[in-house]
Amino acid sequence: MTLGHRIVLCTLAAASLMLSGCDRPADISRGAALAQETGCVACHGLNGRGTGPTFPNLNGQHAHYMFEQLVKYRSGERVNVIMYEQAQQLSRSDMDLLSRYYAAQ
Ligand code: HEC
Repeated sequence: MTLGHRIVLCTLAAASLMLSGCDRPADISRGAALAQETGCVACHGLNGRGTGPTFPNLNGQHAHYMFEQLVKYRSGERVNVIMYEQAQQLSRSDMDLLSRYYAAQ
């Protein structure tokens, strides 16, 4: 789906108040900026495609799933040294923006 289509669909959804969870374009671009500032792009790329065989693709993954994984990495419930370190720098709002950004790729 192109950004233009997303904008149209989200506008329609907002107008009808029938759908929730639409990603506003402003949030998506904030997510893109955060992915670069916090360094996710080094391993997951800006487009969500892992930059090496041990780095998972995030593009198109469900946002809610990714948000949950980031919360679990930060707490140590999901154990991974790399992602534990990465998640320490993230607020819940950052996790939400990053998850929705990568889901939209
Ligand atoms: C140094 C490389 C590296 C960086 C930087 C990095 N990651 Fe990861 N990421 C990984 C690896 C490796 C895994 C797989 C870890 C595992 O096996 O649990 C992973 C897993 C994930 C997962 C879970 C994927 C799944 O399918 O369950 C998410 C979500 C994620 N990373 C998001 C991020 C975000 C957001 C950032 C930036 C704040 C980030 N990562 C930065 C290497 C990295």
